[in-house]
Formats: sequence, structure tokens, C-alpha cells
Amino acid sequence: MSVLLREVCRALAPALATTAPAILVDATCGLGGHLLALLESSRPTRAFAFDRDPAARALAWQRLETAAMTTNVTMIDGRFSTMNARLAEVGVTQVAAILADLGVSSLQLDDGARGFSWRADAPLDMRMDPTTGTSAAELLATIETNELARILRELGEEPDAGRIARAIVAARPTSTTALVEVVTAAMSAPQRRKIGLRINPATRTFQALRLHINNELGELDRLLEDAPGLLAVGGRLAIISFHSLEDRRVKQRFARLSRPPVVPAHVPLRADELPRAKFALPPEFAKGVIAAPDEQGDNPRARSARLRVLERIEA
Ligand SMILES: C[S@@+](CC[C@H](N)C(=O)[O-])C[C@H]1O[C@@H](n2cnc3c(N)ncnc32)[C@H](O)[C@@H]1O
Repeated sequence: MSVLLREVCRALAPALATTAPAILVDATCGLGGHLLALLESSRPTRAFAFDRDPAARALAWQRLETAAMTTNVTMIDGRFSTMNARLAEVGVTQVAAILADLGVSSLQLDDGARGFSWRADAPLDMRMDPTTGTSAAELLATIETNELARILRELGEEPDAGRIARAIVAARPTSTTALVEVVTAAMSAPQRRKIGLRINPATRTFQALRLHINNELGELDRLLEDAPGLLAVGGRLAIISFHSLEDRRVKQRFARLSRPPVVPAHVPLRADELPRAKFALPPEFAKGVIAAPDEQGDNPRARSARLRVLERIEA
């Protein structure tokens, strides 16, 4: 179920309506839910859809075919950190709208065999693109305690990072079930009481390993660096994030880009000569938008989602 679907369409519609050519980039196509809705509601001239997961690309393409929506859509295999270069290869240097819906798809979470979730017993893989890189089991087979503790602390915000890391390195689990057992046994009593039955004790560990295995924050930093430069005047970049580690980065980068450049106090400039920021936060989205209560009720994943939008206002 695509998160914040109405809000994403509302955020990107003005950019696709007023910027010519109306090129749309979906940086995280997943199962194509947002892409299909945007194709139907805003009718972009062309769309490019990225996903690093071959299974997601195949399924999304099937859905587009079923909806007779493949005309003018190009699917690109790869990470969104390569977006500017991959688009330049096909002659695209400016676009009207970019969407990034971060994190894992329901396809990845629900396919028990891929090791993303503690709900199904599976080998610890967790790679969004299973054709390349290191799986979580391979990482845990060799990692040292200090490095693992750092990952659990920084990417999982896990208060028991040290003791959990020591237990994992002692057991070196290779399956989701074994990892849950090790983490549950290692967790301190106060921490176990604190989380109670609210979440699985291994939730933070799974999040940290997944973010690390897929370099998700590195990917996001690259996107935040490069994507604004792709926007034509009037173009918009919309990002949905699911936890504070991501949202903080998006918020800070958007705030920095939408502040005018600082002019030294001794430079004599009239008000109309002051440099203006090239980007702005559209007022409706300035504080970030969360899912409406009905969506939060229907889709638990939507409860932690926040949409932020940046608009290019100057060349
Ligand atoms: C939350 S899902 C997107 C769901 C999609 N918006 C929909 O409506 O179906 C995120 C998708 O982004 C992909 N993804 C995550 N990080 C990526 C990256 N750095 N480059 C390309 N794709 C990425 C994942 O493989 C996953 O399929």
C-alpha cells in the first residue's frame, strides 16, 4: 500500500502542470503505486523509474503493462545515488518532479525468504539488490564487536548496543530466527521491560543492519546533494522518510537550500539586490506532512511516514 499517496500527488501536480517538458522521476519505484497514481493524475510527458531491486522493477513493470501505462516510461536498474549520471546518459539534465519514498517495500518485507523481517525464518540476507554486495549473514560472520556496536547505536539507536553486539559476535547467527533469539537473550532487563510487548526486541537491530547493508543513509545523502540540481524552475522534489535518522537529514538539507546566501555585513546592497535562495519550501509542506488518521488506521507503516517537499524558484 503506497504511503501518503494523495499528498504526494498534490505535492507534485503543480510542478508537472507548469514545467515543460513535464519529466517525472520516481527514485524508488517499488511496486509502482505512486508512479501509477502520478501517471494517471498528472500525465507527465516522460517518466523515469529507478529501483535497485530487480524483483520490484519486474513487478512494477507488470503493473504498468496491465494498466496500459508503459508508454513514455523508462525503468532504470540501479541506485538513486547514480540518478544524475544515469539521466545524463539519456540526455536528461532537468526534470519537473522527483519522488523518493525511502526504505523497504512491502514486497521486500513480506517475502520472508529475503531476511528483512523477524516475522519469517530465513537466511539473513537483507540486500535490496540481492545480485550484489554483502549479505547480513556475511557481515555478521566477520564483523568485530566494536564496529557492530557502533552500527547498532548509530543506525538502530539501540540503547543496549554493546551487550547485543557482544552476543551476536559470540553466536554469529545466520538466520532471522537465530538473530532474534540472540538479541532477545542479550537485552538488559530494564530495556526489555521498557519495550514490553510494543515491538519485537530485535526491531532496532534489524533496522540498523538493513540500513548498513544497503548504505541507506549514504544513498540519501547523495540524493540530497544531487537531486535539487536536477530540478527545473518550478520543479519539486518530494521525499517520504520513515524514521528520524532520515527525516533529520532531509529537513536540514531542505532548510539550508531554502535560506538565502549570507552576504557579509560590509557589502553595501539594496534590498532588491540581495541574493535570493534558489529553493523554497511550499507553505503547505513547510513543516512536513504526516498521514491522515484514516490512512494511519489502515496502514501501520504510514504512522511513521513524513513527506517533505522542496521547490526550485530560481535558475
Ligand atoms: C517504500 S518502497 C517504494 C514503494 C513505491 N513508492 C510504491 O508506491 O510502490 C522503496 C523502494 O525503494 C527501493 N530503494 C531503496 N533504496 C534505493 C536506492 N538507493 N536506489 C534505488 N532504489 C532504492 C527499494 O528497493 C524499494 O523497492
